[in-house]
Amino acid sequence: MPHQVPRADQEIATLLALLLIFAGAPAAFATDAGLVARGAYLADAADCAACHTDSAHGGRPYAGGRAIATPFGTFYSPNITPDPATGIGRWTAAQFLRALYDGVRADGANLFPVFPYPSFTGITDSDGLAIWAYLRSLPPVHRENRPPDLPFPLSWRPLQSVWKRLFFTPGRFRPTPGRSAAWNRGAYLVTALAHCGECHTPRNLLGAMERSRFLAGTAHGPDGKPVPNITSARETGIGAWGVGDIATLLATGQTPDFDSVGGAMGEVVQSTSRLTEADRRAIAVYLKTVPPIATPEQK
Ligand code: HEC
Ligand code: HEC
Repeated sequence: MPHQVPRADQEIATLLALLLIFAGAPAAFATDAGLVARGAYLADAADCAACHTDSAHGGRPYAGGRAIATPFGTFYSPNITPDPATGIGRWTAAQFLRALYDGVRADGANLFPVFPYPSFTGITDSDGLAIWAYLRSLPPVHRENRPPDLPFPLSWRPLQSVWKRLFFTPGRFRPTPGRSAAWNRGAYLVTALAHCGECHTPRNLLGAMERSRFLAGTAHGPDGKPVPNITSARETGIGAWGVGDIATLLATGQTPDFDSVGGAMGEVVQSTSRLTEADRRAIAVYLKTVPPIATPEQK
């Protein structure tokens, strides 16, 4: 359920949460119902549950174990319920934010970018803390993590430091002055929280998003399937779609030519259909301004 609270209240809730964290009062923090509800909305927008639930095998929500195939090997999402032994029950808020923003685990090891931290680094502090509050409120599930099936040396986590130095720019989202509130909200959702670029942007040989071709689509998306160009290119992108067409797709999965999206996007629509209409339209408003990049190999 979308939880709408006035801006000032959000700020106060965040400040309060911060105070509680630094005062070491996790129990009081987790019972702030407003913050938890906001976190649930944001976690939904970020599709955390889709990757962190092994739905195909009846896995419990957020308990991890979903296999994610990549060109480098297969990853298994970790348990992010508050179970102290097998989940993130012993993590602090600061450790959680470091995972989200810098791709670093509580034990200091690097996470692989199959976890979309290169996008999540843009999530605002107040949203990050709300997601944390929500995760803390979940029932703990005992389920051991499974390490990824990767060949050496790829499996060696310290090597990821080199990848980060080459391809990763940490930093919270900053609104663009002179753009409307809706446009900035859309930019935030697309580039950070809802991480649309993680699937819709082509990747280089080392698996990093090619920023110069942001949202231009790829023939080699998740599970090796093609992902369409969603820039405003008229022929090969969605330049011919109106704001309403994009918002409708995100609400129902229906394209303007009465087709419906499936596969990975079908899952995305499960979460975008639960966003507020204002958030779906904000995404559409922003997408309409993404510069056209034509893709001869698409469509
Ligand atoms: C595209 C799939 C995907 C999405 C979406 C995703 N994650 Fe993950 N996440 C992963 C994978 C895979 C890993 C493990 C990466 C590794 O082994 O280095 C991971 C790791 C993590 C970790 C580190 C846990 C540990 O024990 O190492 C945390 C915390 C986490 N994710 C939280 C989240 C949150 C919160 C969201 C939503 C805001 C989210 N994830 C969305 C796939 C995903
Ligand atoms: C997990 C990967 C993934 C993510 C994340 C993702 N998409 Fe998609 N998207 C796809 C795939 C795959 C298709 C093609 C689906 C089909 O044709 O059945 C698609 C199709 C679309 C289409 C239809 C384009 C066309 O020409 O038919 C639009 C619009 C779209 N996505 C927008 C978005 C937006 C906006 C976001 C972020 C909120 C997003 N997508 C996030 C994988 C993804």
